[in-house]
Amino acid sequence: MQDPHADHARSGGGAVQGQALNVTPFQTLMPVPPVAVPIRRGGSYDEYEINVQPARLELVPGLMTDALTYGGGWVGPVIRARTGRPAKVTFRNTLDVHTNVHLHGGHVQAVDDGYPMDMIMPGDSRTYNYPNSQCGATLWYHDHVHHDESEHTYRGLHGIYIIDDPAEASLRLPTGAYDIPIMLTDVKIDSAGALIYEPPKAIERDIVLVNGKATPFLPVAARKYRFRLLNATNEGTYKLSLDKATMWQVGTDGGLLPAPVARPEITFGSGERVDVVVDFTKLPKGSSVVLSDAVKGPILRFDVNFTAKDTSEVPRKLRDLPALPAATVERDVRLSFDFSSGIPPLALVNGKQFDPDRVDFTIKRGTTEIWTVHNDDTEPSILHTFHLHMTHFRVLSRSGAPMTADDAGLKDTVLVPPGSSVRLQATFADYLGRYPYHCHFLEHSSIGMMAQMEVVP
Ligand code: C2O
Ligand code: CU
Ligand code: CU
Repeated sequence: MQDPHADHARSGGGAVQGQALNVTPFQTLMPVPPVAVPIRRGGSYDEYEINVQPARLELVPGLMTDALTYGGGWVGPVIRARTGRPAKVTFRNTLDVHTNVHLHGGHVQAVDDGYPMDMIMPGDSRTYNYPNSQCGATLWYHDHVHHDESEHTYRGLHGIYIIDDPAEASLRLPTGAYDIPIMLTDVKIDSAGALIYEPPKAIERDIVLVNGKATPFLPVAARKYRFRLLNATNEGTYKLSLDKATMWQVGTDGGLLPAPVARPEITFGSGERVDVVVDFTKLPKGSSVVLSDAVKGPILRFDVNFTAKDTSEVPRKLRDLPALPAATVERDVRLSFDFSSGIPPLALVNGKQFDPDRVDFTIKRGTTEIWTVHNDDTEPSILHTFHLHMTHFRVLSRSGAPMTADDAGLKDTVLVPPGSSVRLQATFADYLGRYPYHCHFLEHSSIGMMAQMEVVP
């Protein structure tokens, strides 16, 4: 695809825009995204190269869709890094639009963070240094160019980045072929196969893609699996449940929880990750288990087709979370729209649109702070999310009530419902420089619902 906007125009020929496509569920195999192979394993780090390239993909059966991709797939190559071993990833931009890459959940230097104004121009490439000094976690990478991150990410610029932590090996969670990342995105596709990107109508993105396929099935063995769920939608929230098996949540955005938690239902928003173990052991061969969203219905079917040896475990205890040092600074972050000058509204953080030349919070390195993030949009009522770069945080409470299981562990992204507030605590110890924090509904951040902090010595 020459221009990411071009298929709007192209879809005119005979296509009916907005017509809901009827996808027969469970006709397509869920792909497991390929693991990236390093081009070089240096003495002390691994090197990868990934092309940012157009591709034509079959997202719904029988239709070809033009997408922007990392390496040619809807889900970019899975980088499997290891705690303590840095990776250098070179992204070569073969598109004819600018791009850049942000490692969401990564503790990285400001220069490697994919700052919104820091771009890779067409024909150029850029190497990002990822130290992988953090504990094991499921991260993801996506476009973060200011104003365009929303459309670029929607059109396919998203991939998965897993940090495997040797310290977790003794837990014996499912590994290898039984440790599978699952990326959820949602799209609107017209009858000619073109992706429809219309920010005000994000709610009409009715097709949920599971690793790039609409409502697929996955053959599984009667044993335990680890599924790393990533909500990579621009502004979709899912409430997931399984009809015939228990989801044991073992991890979240920033890594493992203290102990597995049985979750009848899991709610997560754009940008969040949930790591679960599902045990199919007791299910007879030939049975299936369906993963559904409360609103969108079935999204993935697991078919128990074969048996396999299982020495994995759901251990009683996973790890101790790092201690919470005492906070010495408190701040408020208010997310809101201002409709007084019409549509599109102004998208604001603490009453201001993002300005790369303005520092909103100056933070002394090493400080522990408590931020209260408010969603001020009650009329009309609009959901927001909050995402912080550079470090993880812990949720302390929600509108004065204790946090729930959805907020447990080390987080970098949380839902903030209309009229509510979330109190969270973070320590800014890692790096100096400017990093954004923003609403992770990308249609909101791309029109200004983003601010920046500067960490200073
Ligand atoms: Cu997933 Cu600032 O982004
Ligand atoms: Cu991020
Ligand atoms: Cu928002």
